[in-house]
Amino acid sequence: MLIVANWKAYVEDLKKAKKLLAVSKRLTHVSKVNIVLAPPAPLLGALAIRNKSKVSFGAQDVSRTTGGAQTGEVTAQSYVAAGATYAIIGHSERRALGETNTVISEKLAHALAHGMLPILCVGEHERDGEGRYLSYIREELTAAMGPLTPKERVQVIIAYEPLWAIGKTATDAIQSGDLAEMVLYIRKVIGELLPGKSARHTTILYGGSVEPSNIRGLAGSSGVDGFLVGHASADPVVFRELVKQLS
Ligand code: PGA
Repeated sequence: MLIVANWKAYVEDLKKAKKLLAVSKRLTHVSKVNIVLAPPAPLLGALAIRNKSKVSFGAQDVSRTTGGAQTGEVTAQSYVAAGATYAIIGHSERRALGETNTVISEKLAHALAHGMLPILCVGEHERDGEGRYLSYIREELTAAMGPLTPKERVQVIIAYEPLWAIGKTATDAIQSGDLAEMVLYIRKVIGELLPGKSARHTTILYGGSVEPSNIRGLAGSSGVDGFLVGHASADPVVFRELVKQLS
């Protein structure tokens, strides 16, 4: 199981960031869960550069540019220099700021070109009775991954994050039966995009109000390979409990 801790802007000071890293390091000694921390960029730089533990680091976003005269942009290459190996791309909170599937596809390509493992976020705004949300997910996956080469597509991790479930509480999260159905559907769509039977090996995460009280149930029979966790990953006590539930 892979847990990606998306700290968003919940963590803003080094003291708290260090505490969360210390808790994560200890957890890697007692749990088989792979932990990826995704702090805000300056904190990632401060924590990851000297990291020798099993904890990995991820960017919350990467620039669509490759460098040069781009004030304020943080490129994939600079994230790698800071010690990041993963990159969250296309998060709904970035899409809400105007990020399109075309931009997301460029970001995936940049991350891959610098050896990062991109985590492509997809998710519908709402669930309708006619299953239109399924075509929405298909469109997000194909538009972002279509421009990549088959070799690149194989390396993309998918995070299914329905927007209606993000930033709420465990009772608002998806039910494990619905998640199982969606994981199968995503694997089917990915299967059409990947060569041979390689879609079987694609890592699929779920995100959206994952908390200690629902993580085990969601992991159970849904077929997910892990979780992208927001608010519950930004509190050391809650995060410890979350990982322990999976161990
Ligand atoms: P949440 O966020 O766990 O706070 O719902 C998940 C995410 O947006 O990645």
